[in-house]
Amino acid sequence: MSGLDIPPPLDPDARWPEGLSIRARTPADAEEIAALHNLSGYRYGTLRTPHHTPDEIRNGIEGHSANSFSLVAELDGHIVGDCGLTRFANHRRAHAGSIGMGVHDAYRCRGVGRALVGEILAIADRWLNLKRIELTVYTDNEPALGLYRNFGFEVEGHLKTFGFRDGRYVDAYSMARLRT
Ligand SMILES: CC(C)(COP(=O)(O)OP(=O)(O)OC[C@H]1O[C@@H](n2cnc3c(N)ncnc32)[C@H](O)[C@@H]1OP(=O)(O)O)[C@@H](O)C(=O)NCCC(=O)NCCS
Repeated sequence: MSGLDIPPPLDPDARWPEGLSIRARTPADAEEIAALHNLSGYRYGTLRTPHHTPDEIRNGIEGHSANSFSLVAELDGHIVGDCGLTRFANHRRAHAGSIGMGVHDAYRCRGVGRALVGEILAIADRWLNLKRIELTVYTDNEPALGLYRNFGFEVEGHLKTFGFRDGRYVDAYSMARLRT
């Protein structure tokens, strides 16, 4: 993609880190996304398992559902984060969706997470008119809790023994953001 093709933020008020671009992921990104998902910090905050392969990621991208949006953030010529939104397929939940995301361990605290969540919520708000966005987050994931609270997400429930992480069970919060 040439520099001229980099799309600006969907929300004109969004402020992204200098040089950051956000675009849809493609099968050609499989290797870099596998490397991102294999980072220990990324795995610790998500439900990723160890040793993802590029083929497995490529199959996921190629089998992409029409109800999903999957974005990657690029900086310094590398993928430094990703974020996905799935609109629920059930007719009576079509006003709602869920998101998930992560940032490269070496690129945290630079505004990449804020840019990705802002862009995915702009799709949800401005282009899909979703009213409710849901997510789950480990109860000890302070950076993610701070990020989501900044965007208006609130804790709705405490999910006990939600996931197994590095030898122990870990709780999670279910969070949601309602647009009135
Ligand atoms: C959570 C995560 C996405 C944050 O991404 P990031 O790019 O580092 O975050 P940003 O620099 O955009 O910061 C955005 C906000 O997040 C919060 N935040 C980020 N790092 C934080 C930290 N170390 N401690 C507390 N809050 C933090 C703050 O509220 C911050 O807003 P502020 O800058 O106005 O204070 C990133 O740490 C990550 O990918 N972790 C591993 C995977 C993961 O946990 N994914 C989320 C699954 S639910």
